[in-house]
Amino acid sequence: MFKAVLFDLDGVITDTAEYHFRAWKQLAEEIGINGVDREFNEKLKGVSREDSLQLILDLDNKKVSAEEFADLAKRKNDNYVESIKDVSPRDVYPGILQLLRDLRTNGVKIALASASKNGPFLLERLGLTDLFDAIADPAKVAESKPAPDIFLAAAAGVGVDIKEAIGVEDAPAGVTAIKASGAFPVGVGLAENLGADIALVPDTSHLTYDYLVSVWNR
Ligand code: BG6
Ligand code: MG
Repeated sequence: MFKAVLFDLDGVITDTAEYHFRAWKQLAEEIGINGVDREFNEKLKGVSREDSLQLILDLDNKKVSAEEFADLAKRKNDNYVESIKDVSPRDVYPGILQLLRDLRTNGVKIALASASKNGPFLLERLGLTDLFDAIADPAKVAESKPAPDIFLAAAAGVGVDIKEAIGVEDAPAGVTAIKASGAFPVGVGLAENLGADIALVPDTSHLTYDYLVSVWNR
């Protein structure tokens, strides 16, 4: 049996993937870059703040100084933080609270493996902090998704061998990270984005404890 589940946050636990998208789109348009549409956004999902900004600047071959880069990243984050200030327990995606409770009841460890530095704040707003046994710190890992580091750190945080852990992701970069880590990948979303070779649910209401047990044993 699996001993831990390592959760991505944005787009898995709550709808903040949408808020990240809107904040990046607004920033890009403010600096005259118009290519941040939903298709391009699939490349940003799961990707760190700095890597996301670089991908956006690359869209237009735009070069900025280190100082301007830091300022743009801060502007996006200020917008994003403003947009999540009213997030509440009502915003937890369907099925997630029950899943977390069932995992706990069954002695399975729960860890956060998010690239977001706003992760602890969001878990607090969602009222979920107490259900998590560990939160991997994205500031302390060498490489961000699609590298496996944050999933390895999350498994280490709960003292579980990565091969005995399930990783849950909504983003291509995150699925690649889970596969590279050696954890068992479960995707939330479409095969056309995440690949047809992993266990997939269309949305979190299907992400039950029984579902995880069944895909783990198949
Ligand atoms: C990921 C999101 O979880 O965190 C990305 O999918 C985001 O969109 C990344 O860029 C970093 O988040 P933050 O809050 O540290 O800027
Ligand atoms: Mg995500």
